[in-house]
Amino acid sequence: MSIEKVGVVGCGLMGSGIAEVAAAAGFDVLVREIDDRAIEQGRGRIRKSLDRAVSKEKLSAEDRDAALGRLSFTTAVADLAPCDIVIEAIVEDLEVKNALFGELDGLCGEGTIFASNTSSLTITDMAAATDRADRFVGLHFFNPVPVMKLVEVVRTIATSDETFDRAFEFSRKLGKVPIAAKDNSGFVVNLLLVPYMLDAIRQLERGVAGIEDIDTGMVLGCGYPMGPFTLCDFVGIDTLYKISEIMYDEYREERYAPPPLLKRIVAMGRYGRKSGRGFYDWSGEKPVALAI
Ligand code: CAA
Ligand code: NAD
Repeated sequence: MSIEKVGVVGCGLMGSGIAEVAAAAGFDVLVREIDDRAIEQGRGRIRKSLDRAVSKEKLSAEDRDAALGRLSFTTAVADLAPCDIVIEAIVEDLEVKNALFGELDGLCGEGTIFASNTSSLTITDMAAATDRADRFVGLHFFNPVPVMKLVEVVRTIATSDETFDRAFEFSRKLGKVPIAAKDNSGFVVNLLLVPYMLDAIRQLERGVAGIEDIDTGMVLGCGYPMGPFTLCDFVGIDTLYKISEIMYDEYREERYAPPPLLKRIVAMGRYGRKSGRGFYDWSGEKPVALAI
């Protein structure tokens, strides 16, 4: 069965990018968010990103308008029933994700594939909570989705070959480069990247250097496109904290443990760029490192 109608649940940092990329690739995309305000915020993200591509002559105005024409939005989960694949990119919380997939399981057709964009939860924990574990995969996109070419396609011990192959081919049709990943927490990239981000926070706690110097060190010393604290603010500090807790629970290795400072920053509601402040204050022309 070919994939034509794509459902995306969650239109935040990642869901908006996934919806944009799927619509730009020619798929009909239905986005489900929790309320109209979240829909308007997500629609705005997509529009801004497509306009940026047009202004950089990466996309024609006609193709932008055609992509926008293939996007529709709803707050009703039931509207996703006719989708050929549903990709969730909602909050990194197993209970919330499983409540969603449990509802979708009773609505979607036999051929519908379920996919999670989770950073650190195992696909098995979600698939096992449905009656379609053979039609369940991980599709782990990278931020920002319109730019990062990689997608980790994750199979569990129950994922059928047909489902895996359809998901792999779908990722290619999105213009991405898929790699096959096993269903371990953090898959391939986050297994390496998350400890790096957490170690930067531990360095800060130890007073090794300041936020800006550590960021500058990795950009000018290693050619990274952004330093670790800028990356934390970009990914979302609330999301990073959840990822760290999940990976530490899975592996019980110190390198995945959430540093106390990370917990404090989240408790203060400083989630990074998406809340305006994280390790930096993003409200001005240039980001300003906050006193920690
Ligand atoms: N949406 C769409 N396009 C974007 C964008 C966005 N949010 N941000 C930047 N771009 C585009 C720009 O339009 C620009 O396009 P051109 O090259 O055609 O001009 C290009 O990306 C470069 O952007 P900029 O020149 O503005 O800035 P930059 O060179 O610093 O690139 C960046 C921005 C691509 C974000 C770059 O800083 C980068 O690659 N950072 C690292 C991102 C990263 O590590 N992502 C992985 C996070 S971890 C993850 O995703 C997994 C998880 O589970 C947490
Ligand atoms: P986000 O906070 O930007 O967006 C989450 C969105 O989900 C919000 O808009 C929220 O309103 C919506 N939502 C919550 N419950 C919902 C529900 N039941 N139905 C519909 N919408 C719902 O988070 P994000 O950064 O986009 O992360 C989303 C997922 O993607 C997480 O699982 C995260 O681990 C994963 N991920 C994040 C990144 C990243 O760099 N931020 C990268 C790869 C994967």
